[in-house]
Amino acid sequence: MTRNDFSISRKPSNHQRRTAMSKVFSSHAVSVDGYISGRKPDGEHTFGRGLGEASMLFNWYNDGDTPSKVFDGFRLSAPSAQFFDLIADRVGAAVAGRTTYEHSGHWGGDSPHPTAPLILVSHRSAPKLSSKQTLITTGIEDAIAAAKKVAGDKDVALMGGGLLTSALEADLVDEVILHQVPILLGGGHSFFQELPKHVRLRLLEVIAAPGVTHLHYEVIR
Ligand SMILES: NC(=O)c1ccc[n+]([C@@H]2O[C@H](COP(=O)([O-])OP(=O)(O)OC[C@H]3O[C@@H](n4cnc5c(N)ncnc54)[C@H](OP(=O)(O)O)[C@@H]3O)[C@@H](O)[C@H]2O)c1
Repeated sequence: MTRNDFSISRKPSNHQRRTAMSKVFSSHAVSVDGYISGRKPDGEHTFGRGLGEASMLFNWYNDGDTPSKVFDGFRLSAPSAQFFDLIADRVGAAVAGRTTYEHSGHWGGDSPHPTAPLILVSHRSAPKLSSKQTLITTGIEDAIAAAKKVAGDKDVALMGGGLLTSALEADLVDEVILHQVPILLGGGHSFFQELPKHVRLRLLEVIAAPGVTHLHYEVIR
């Protein structure tokens, strides 16, 4: 069999089948020992500046000379910028777990994404919610349905390990993206919590960049 024979006969992956539909994906910077924040997140800011020791997870946002076309002020290495902007540009709604929302200082009443609105998922009321933020307390299915509605043709990005675990449990996740940073944080908030079942992943791409390796997986259903 030649290379061409193989590519013609290969069944389309879930990723290829769903290209026309809005997708649900997560994107997290994670240490090699599996933490997405350190032991003492201080709740002042997001993306590094309020994460104490875990701010190292986000150094790659600003360790290069290629400006992001989506996030003002980010200057990444060329390979990181290319991957990061492709992902960031897909986002039509961001869905965050309550702990991420609290540790990020509520994003100052805004959204973590420059253009996509925020959907907050919690079991409790959120007194500091702004008019740009929507709270869903009726579960992950309702939260993702609401996010898909506002996202339109764009995709839904999940933020928070607990939130992602809950969405995986409900079989609502299409892709998992890890930006793996070569540090061992030794403690903090784990990327994953316990799942009641195993979830199989297929590696779609690996991009080795300065200070970070981008790992892009598809969830196999
Ligand atoms: N490294 C990165 O890229 C990155 C990205 C995002 C976040 N973070 C950090 O990760 C840490 C938080 O992660 P985490 O995993 O501990 O928490 P999380 O996922 O942000 O939040 C968990 C909380 O979200 C709510 N929630 C989740 N699933 C729910 C569901 N199905 N129904 C209703 N409510 C639900 C619950 O809040 P209630 O208890 O109110 O019900 C739950 O306790 C923070 O420090 C954040 O800054 C890092």
